[in-house]
Amino acid sequence: MKNRYKQNYSEIKGLGNSNLYLRRSESFFYRKNLEFRKYLFSRNVIPRFVEWGIFQPNIRMVEIGCGHGDKLHLIFQNAKEGSTLIGLDVSSEMLIKGKAKYPDLANIMFQGDAFKLDKLVGKYNVLFYLQILQHFTKDQVKKCLTIAKAYLKSNGKIVVMNTFVPEKPLSRKIFLALKFLYAKLFTMNPDEYRNLTESEFVKIADGVGFRLTKRTSAGFTIRALLLNLID
Ligand SMILES: C[S@@+](CC[C@H](N)C(=O)[O-])C[C@H]1O[C@@H](n2cnc3c(N)ncnc32)[C@H](O)[C@@H]1O
Repeated sequence: MKNRYKQNYSEIKGLGNSNLYLRRSESFFYRKNLEFRKYLFSRNVIPRFVEWGIFQPNIRMVEIGCGHGDKLHLIFQNAKEGSTLIGLDVSSEMLIKGKAKYPDLANIMFQGDAFKLDKLVGKYNVLFYLQILQHFTKDQVKKCLTIAKAYLKSNGKIVVMNTFVPEKPLSRKIFLALKFLYAKLFTMNPDEYRNLTESEFVKIADGVGFRLTKRTSAGFTIRALLLNLID
């Protein structure tokens, strides 16, 4: 897969201004947006993960597409004794930023591709996909989940958080208009939010062998879902 995170924003947009990406990613609004998203995740989502019993002692967890580690850091802080956690991201630039931001995570963040997972050794209890699958096409989502199965223990779980496209036509129109504004202000990735609705995702996951067991809202159209591997 051609990875657009490896290109800079201006190359993608063909604007010929190599400073644009940096200006955006370092901009005040972009940083504030990241802080806000981390805050929402810690306030709305981490408590649900605790309630759902995700953080158990002596389990093996991976966050796939950990980016600069904001959510990995919160998972790390909630991990119980004897558990292990690693973060994988395909983008070395993201990992460099993440390791600088969270030095305590530097030795658990590695380069790795969600479509291969060849950096993983053995089987895991929980795989987190936090705002990564929303960048993929439906076929790519299916491929990711199929590969995930091979690395999960028999009672394994995946935790997926995505910005889903609304199901209802009017909400969808409003969403797309907001997405346009959001992309202008913040995003680095023009693939942001493929047209995946929550029900489409659940159907793909079900077809691969994952059953939805818990869901929660994480603000706007963002949902966090817990899916169990069906034995
Ligand atoms: C929107 S960011 C989310 C980062 C982090 N999970 C969070 O929620 O803060 C999506 C991340 O997915 C990573 N990514 C994209 N394609 C990937 C792939 N094929 N394998 C692993 N990571 C990938 C990107 O590099 C980026 O860091």
